[in-house]
Amino acid sequence: MFKTKMTELFGINHPIMLAGMNWITTPELVAHVCNAGGLGMLAVAQFSPDDTLKAIKEIRKLTDKPFGVNQILIGPGARENIQTAIDEKVPVINYALGKPWFIDQVHAYGGKVIGTTAIARHAVRAEQLGCDAVVITGREAAAHGAEATSLVLITIVSSHVKIPVIAAGGFHDGRGLAAALALGASGISMGTRFMMTKECHLHDNFKQLCLQATEQDTVYSNRFDGMDGRALKSKASLELMKKGFPMAEATSAAMEIKRLLKLSWWQFIGLSFKMMSADEGSPLWVQARQAVAAKRSLLAIEKGDTDKGFLFAGQDCGAIDDIPSVKEVIDRIIAQAEQTLEATRQKIVK
Ligand SMILES: Cc1cc2nc3c(=O)[nH]c(=O)nc-3n(C[C@H](O)[C@H](O)[C@H](O)COP(=O)(O)O)c2cc1C
Repeated sequence: MFKTKMTELFGINHPIMLAGMNWITTPELVAHVCNAGGLGMLAVAQFSPDDTLKAIKEIRKLTDKPFGVNQILIGPGARENIQTAIDEKVPVINYALGKPWFIDQVHAYGGKVIGTTAIARHAVRAEQLGCDAVVITGREAAAHGAEATSLVLITIVSSHVKIPVIAAGGFHDGRGLAAALALGASGISMGTRFMMTKECHLHDNFKQLCLQATEQDTVYSNRFDGMDGRALKSKASLELMKKGFPMAEATSAAMEIKRLLKLSWWQFIGLSFKMMSADEGSPLWVQARQAVAAKRSLLAIEKGDTDKGFLFAGQDCGAIDDIPSVKEVIDRIIAQAEQTLEATRQKIVK
């Protein structure tokens, strides 16, 4: 066990965070990570405010440790979900893709805010805005990254900000944690590795596909949900990359999202217009693609449909060859990071 600026800031035992992942980070998975000494993060972009509240209460039944809520600020319901988390005094609010308006409100109850970005300039801006830590996402990562890989991004960002830097994208073992610390980060955030655990409800068909994948078996495109992102190479991801704008599928997927978010027709239409004009809004075509990605993700995660289902996954699925428990993952990483840091000193020829 070692303490870093990250463990001190959040009051956790290990500098390891569960990356917020839509449809994946269930209250159970979040609580398992917290109980094993890491920082669990609940992604709520797919939830209505009522569902967000329910999930927060479920987490509190399963753990008394600090946890966080992750929300993409460009999606429908972002304001309402963030407000629900604030009303509940959730210890950590983690946002991505958008401008945070709530930092003072979170600090008022003693909470912490983490900004997630893939661009060094935005990490500096997050610090200026008052964020307590920043997650920086390298291009290796599942879902949304930018041009720079973790190796480059961590060194640049940690030279320019004083707040703790949490490195994401490609981290799956103790060597990665040791490397991230050496490059200036205070800890790591992992998506793909935690998705490949016993406690994660990802359908076994896709767990098996990830196990078989090599580091070459992911694809990067803006055709999945309208933003550049990385997904597991599969029939559906390759098909989506070739497709033009999926009008019919987007319409039916938007209806599905309306149902999941429990929106009335008036709310749905009003929200679509509001999102197009708001600061944190995004063009309708991005929203439509996001709806398709959400529907296809559910087919993968819940139904295990290897023909139509699509899954965001990182290059590190090529390095993952087992499905242990969350606790095993964390304990292994800490032990291996300690050995790696020790062994690294011994590599230096005197
Ligand atoms: C299935 C899936 C869904 C994701 N959904 C979100 C999300 O809702 N919000 C977010 O900020 N990042 C999301 N991500 C990205 C992760 O938070 C994280 O940046 C990424 O998994 C880190 O790279 P790694 O997979 O190599 O560990 C998602 C990733 C996956 C695999």
